[in-house]
Amino acid sequence: MKEQLEVIQKRALAAITATESAAELEGLRVRYLGKKGELTALLKQMGKLSPEERPMMGQLANQVRAELEAALESQSAALDAKAMDEKLAAETVDVTIPGKKVALGHKHPMYTALDEFKEIFLNMGFEIFDGPEVEQADYNFTKLNTPDDHPAREWTDTFYLTEDSRILLRTQTSPMQIRAMEEHGVPIRMISPGRVYRKDEVDATHSPMFHQIEGLVVDKGITMADLKGTLNAVIREIYGPETKTRFRPHHFPFTEPSCEVDIQCHKCGGKGCPTCKGEGWIEALGAGMVHPKVLRGCGVDPDVYSGFAFGFGLERLAMGRFKISDLRLIFENDIRFLEQF
Ligand code: DAH
Repeated sequence: MKEQLEVIQKRALAAITATESAAELEGLRVRYLGKKGELTALLKQMGKLSPEERPMMGQLANQVRAELEAALESQSAALDAKAMDEKLAAETVDVTIPGKKVALGHKHPMYTALDEFKEIFLNMGFEIFDGPEVEQADYNFTKLNTPDDHPAREWTDTFYLTEDSRILLRTQTSPMQIRAMEEHGVPIRMISPGRVYRKDEVDATHSPMFHQIEGLVVDKGITMADLKGTLNAVIREIYGPETKTRFRPHHFPFTEPSCEVDIQCHKCGGKGCPTCKGEGWIEALGAGMVHPKVLRGCGVDPDVYSGFAFGFGLERLAMGRFKISDLRLIFENDIRFLEQF
């Protein structure tokens, strides 16, 4: 039995030091030390030995087991270290190779203009409202005091989404005056930027989709002087402190009185040039005192409250701000154009 033990010991040790993987090593552990392993099988035969031989053989067997366990452990550590070395060698990184350049985008010039605009109004205590582009004709027209036979309601001008002309793509951000008063109540100071849609052919100044920024102020004692003062302050903030403005009478169904606001041409200083089409002035926005019917429709008493509203064209604002001559450039998203801002 002693010889058998020594044979197992020799063979096992040789096999262990020759292993090249953890799986192989585990196989050997099972083969020699496992429940059905060779050493275990041999130990089961101890019963056959004489009582004198038994303690000596027992001691020897334990010694062999301990030796094999130690050998397994140190081989396992050696294999781990080897695997780590190989991994490190394979994953070497050359930190001196130049990196790949990531092309970073930046804000579209129209949104730069919009952010500047929002900042000006936030500083004056206005809130910003967001509203739906798919709108009810009721909000886009009726509640804005627009008569049933108004030309803007024509199917040739407006994108309707239902046969009964009740749902449409909003043609202006003005319905947000109604929504804001209904949701928020008065007093209110708000602006609401967003997309609007009209059946227009694309050219240098038209697009079937464009952006407006609506504004509304309602409080006790608001007058035309507040309208002029506020809009002049905003325009001078955007276009420079020397900018001259002109308020021209106009008509909008939802304001009374109504006006259009022009700014003196920044190119020619008012003499007349191609940019202002010889006029000396460039139209900047529509505005007016909120019509009493509109206030009443929103549950606001026009004998107590009054207000003014205005609507800027965002593209026009950005074109003036960045001296862009053609509206199409704003929508085409040609990188060579956008990268200039
Ligand atoms: N919604 C008008 C348009 O699209 C612009 C406008 C005019 C808005 C007067 C207003 C306003 O709030 O008071 O032509």
